[in-house]
Amino acid sequence: MLHDGNKVIDESRQGEAIMTKTSESGERKLLIESYGCQMNFSDSEIVASIMGEAGFSTTRDAEAADVVLINTCAIRDNAEQRVRGRLQFFKNLKKTKPDMVVGVLGCMAERLREKLLEQEQLVDLVVGPDAYRDLPNLIGQVDSGQKAVNVLLSREETYAEIAPVRLDSNGITAFISIMRGCDNMCSFCVVPFTRGRERSRDPESIVREAQELFDQGYREVTLLGQNVDSYKWNLTNKGEIKDPEKETVNFAQLMEKVALVNPDLRVRFSTSHPKDMTDDVLHTMAKYENICKYIHLPVQSGSSEVLKKMNRGYTREWYLDRIAAINRIMPDCAISTDIITGFCGETEEQHQETLSLMAEVRYDMAFMFKYSERPRTLAERKYEDDITEDVKGRRLREVIDLQMECGAERTKALVGKTHRVLVEGTSKKSEDQLFGRTTYNTVIVFPKGDIKPGQYVDVHAHDCTSVTLLGEVVPS
Ligand code: 5AD
Ligand code: SF4
Repeated sequence: MLHDGNKVIDESRQGEAIMTKTSESGERKLLIESYGCQMNFSDSEIVASIMGEAGFSTTRDAEAADVVLINTCAIRDNAEQRVRGRLQFFKNLKKTKPDMVVGVLGCMAERLREKLLEQEQLVDLVVGPDAYRDLPNLIGQVDSGQKAVNVLLSREETYAEIAPVRLDSNGITAFISIMRGCDNMCSFCVVPFTRGRERSRDPESIVREAQELFDQGYREVTLLGQNVDSYKWNLTNKGEIKDPEKETVNFAQLMEKVALVNPDLRVRFSTSHPKDMTDDVLHTMAKYENICKYIHLPVQSGSSEVLKKMNRGYTREWYLDRIAAINRIMPDCAISTDIITGFCGETEEQHQETLSLMAEVRYDMAFMFKYSERPRTLAERKYEDDITEDVKGRRLREVIDLQMECGAERTKALVGKTHRVLVEGTSKKSEDQLFGRTTYNTVIVFPKGDIKPGQYVDVHAHDCTSVTLLGEVVPS
């Protein structure tokens, strides 16, 4: 499962063909807003590509947009509420711009299609995550006065050959989707319902995309999947290889192929699943310096009973064994996690087990959430959402407090050392400072000198805040 951020993305691209309808200026403008996980942001780049081919250029100005597409997230109720607020805003805007097409993409599409289209009349168009190739056609339908829907999920679609249009890009770091969907059925999670069955993308197209990004000047790729450890491509499917030993490409092998694109291309990935993460993956990480020493390994809870109810497929002991494997194979590797507080029936003791696990692992970073019941999930059908908001909130605060302590301690441990840093841009706080990241994904800020974004530099960290290192470049 991928963790979330929230930002509006935009970028211009002039397409070749023109759609059925044109605006007064002769060209149609598209605004895409993305919510939720990195996969959604990556999907929006595929959407921008498909729409670019159909003659749309993108804009960040809602007033100028002929088509607005909101790529939605359904992971927790508050994510949905945020999107609803945005849809209401565009519904109001439509009063002054009646020709503007408003569409919902992504994870809210399937579940809310009737509500959004019919009951609330909030949107003209609803398109699920596997139906983006159909977008130009569906917009044509809306142009001709109909509402349009396609929320069919696919077992095959990976958009493998579509070259994403990089949106809101710094030109240095990019996402590459390596698989779609999820077969895990964690009991709290809506993703298997919104994104459908798991399928892997052809490794050749992944390596090609990484190579193209490198050639364009990008220096870091993040391989994305809900559970990258179950990546599997069967070469015999395409009749490519007959040797049974070499029939499949697994995640460790895929990561190696991407790492070999160029030693100056950093490789990151998200998200690993504790039940599937193999030592092979860890050994491959250790072998290549350009594979970043950072693993996002969501634990969700420190209690084996709760993990069982969550249908996570591992126990506390199994998880701690995976942590021990990481520490053994890459003693300096950074580790982050996701934690849910107040899952159905969680006792005070079980909550304490989460705290004690955190105290033992000492994560570099964590995404922490109150449990939010999601429709259709196993937990919704089987368990009562019986922990009060107050208790969920108090437990969340305890988890956050402990994490702040551990995170600050982990950052501090990097002070006094010299780090290889990929420079990403100018610091938000000062024009005279640049920022980049260490292999551990820690942000480090340092004086600009004549260094440019996209370069690698060695930076000695001499100080830190709780999450950021402060340093000086050392000549290499
Ligand atoms: N309630 C709260 N948090 C959730 N997550 C997924 N589903 C829910 C839910 N119903 C969290 C998990 C996951 C992260 C991306 O979001 O921790 O790993
Ligand atoms: Fe992640 Fe589990 Fe949801 Fe799949 S079902 S996306 S593994 S939390």
